[in-house]
Amino acid sequence: MTDLSTRYLGLELRSPLVASSSPATSGVDRVRALADAGIGAVVLPSLFEEEVAREQLRDHALAEVTEDVHGEAASYFPAVPTAETGGVTRHLRLVEQCARAVDVPVVASLNGSTAAGWPRFARRLADAGAAAVELNVHVVPGDPATSGRDVEDRHVEVLEEVRAVVSVPVAVKLSPYFSATGEMAARLDRAGADGLVLFNRFLQPDVDPEAMTVTTGFALSTPAEARLARTWVAILRHRVRASLAATTGVEDAADVAAYLLAGADVVMTASALVRHGTGHVRVLLDGLEDWMRRHGLTSLEQVRGRLAVPATTDPQAHERAGYVAALEAARRTYGELGAAAGPP
Ligand SMILES: Cc1cc2nc3c(=O)[nH]c(=O)nc-3n(C[C@H](O)[C@H](O)[C@H](O)COP(=O)(O)O)c2cc1C
Repeated sequence: MTDLSTRYLGLELRSPLVASSSPATSGVDRVRALADAGIGAVVLPSLFEEEVAREQLRDHALAEVTEDVHGEAASYFPAVPTAETGGVTRHLRLVEQCARAVDVPVVASLNGSTAAGWPRFARRLADAGAAAVELNVHVVPGDPATSGRDVEDRHVEVLEEVRAVVSVPVAVKLSPYFSATGEMAARLDRAGADGLVLFNRFLQPDVDPEAMTVTTGFALSTPAEARLARTWVAILRHRVRASLAATTGVEDAADVAAYLLAGADVVMTASALVRHGTGHVRVLLDGLEDWMRRHGLTSLEQVRGRLAVPATTDPQAHERAGYVAALEAARRTYGELGAAAGPP
């Protein structure tokens, strides 16, 4: 009998598989189906700062128009969508309905790039029934005058502001592009992050040379993309207090097992659910149980972090040794560059 129960953000989860923010969690029926299939928790699609700002602007404009209008006269104005009836409210309703519909934690996600508005909406998401809030601080420092420290400080500020106003746990979803991911993680850990979600995956635009256009660059992930997140989960396992969620490149049960061995508390999946449907949850969980049975493992305690970088090891030396070993293996396989003989 294998026990898949685990803890994430201080919450009890029946399994370590979490549906991360994506269209797979975008409706009550989908969330219910995920819960029925055995998911440990769901993260709803993000509420975007732009959406909130748009509605605040509209509210402000409406307030100005109706400023001098009193009593009955105000009722002549047509109903205008406001923060109370627009996308934000629909989102809050989704949180409310999902939290009521399932008995697994429903995590709300906020995506933004400036410090404005986060605390207020984080609180509203928590009030709507979110068991936790995930902050996706999406800063792409396109302005060359923006320093790395500015970007890092923005993350800490947002976390501290939200932490101060909500009582539910708060996780931060990180970009893989910090120059010192370890220090960023440690700063967020000290600033009170209950969890770190590694990593956000950007939908990078591309250029189509035949059509001579810029394309949106949208594509679902592949398992090979998991290596970076796995490396950082393994390094951070014994170096931060916060829970660790791994996200990127989970396609089958082996990917889930590998993240747990590296040290993840939970493993998130989005692309695979979009690609295969909610039924894929069962495939991943059955596969994980089967893998545990084959290896004589009965609980996740025996799995988690077995292959993490030990607390006593210098992570830099560890990564450097891995890099050198990989190059040596490449040399053995392909020979020295410039050698007369080609690949075997
Ligand atoms: C279609 C799609 C929509 C997504 N929307 C969001 C979102 O609203 N907020 C967010 O934080 N992440 C979003 N993500 C990112 C996923 O939550 C996940 O972190 C990322 O895709 C890597 O995991 P995967 O390899 O399992 O897809 C989205 C991913 C996909 C594929």
